Amino acid sequence: MSLTVAIDGPAAAGKGTIARAVAEHFGFAHLDTGLLYRAVGARTLEGLPAREAAETLDPADLTRDDLRTPDVAQAASKVAVIPEVRAALLDFQRAFARRAGGAVLDGRDIGTVICPDAEVKLFVTASAEVRADRRFLELTEKGMKVARQEVLADVVARDQRDMERADAPLKPADDAVVLDTTSLSINAAVEAAIARVDTALRA
Ligand code: C5P
Repeated sequence: MSLTVAIDGPAAAGKGTIARAVAEHFGFAHLDTGLLYRAVGARTLEGLPAREAAETLDPADLTRDDLRTPDVAQAASKVAVIPEVRAALLDFQRAFARRAGGAVLDGRDIGTVICPDAEVKLFVTASAEVRADRRFLELTEKGMKVARQEVLADVVARDQRDMERADAPLKPADDAVVLDTTSLSINAAVEAAIARVDTALRA
C-alpha cells in the first residue's frame, strides 16, 4: 500500500502538528520538508553557495539543533526561491512520498508540485496574528528570547516571499481541502485530517 498525504500551508499554521498526528495515527512515515530548506539555509549562513548546499545535503544536516531559529527560517525562505535548490530536493521528496506503508509530507508545494497525485491534500492556514502567537509561544517555550512583533514580521515576510516566488509558490492545490485553524482547535483540525485519510483509505 502506498498512500500520500500532502499538507501545505503558510508558516506556523499547524501543519507540522497535524502531519505528525496523522502519521502516528495511521503508522505512516512523516517528512517535514521545511527542514530540507532550513538545512540548506543554515549551510548558506556558514558561507556555502545555496545550490552547492542543496546538492550536497547530507542526512546529518537535518538533525542540526539550530534549524528552528528565526535566522535559519529566513535563510530557508531565501534559498527556497532558487529553482536549482528546489530541483535538487525534488527526487528525495518524491521517493519518500511513494514509500510503501504510506507517507505524510508537509511543506508549501507538496500538493501542487511534489505530489500532484497525492490521495489526500490539505491546505492548513490561519490568520497571520494567530500564527505569530503560536510561533512566539513555541520559541519562548524553548527558551529563545524573541519579541512578538518580530515573530509576526518574520511570518509575514516569509509568507510573502513564499507566495510571490515564480517557482512552486505557496498556494492551495485546486483539489485541496482547506483547514483554517484561526478559530478551529488543533485537535479539531487533526480529527478532520484523520477523517479525510480514513475516507481515502476506504475508497
Ligand atoms: O515549514 P518551515 O517553516 O520549516 O519552512 C521553512 C521555509 O522553507 C519556508 O518559509 C519556505 O520558504 C521553504 N519551504 C518551501 N517548500 C516546502 C517547505 C518549505 O519552499 N515544501
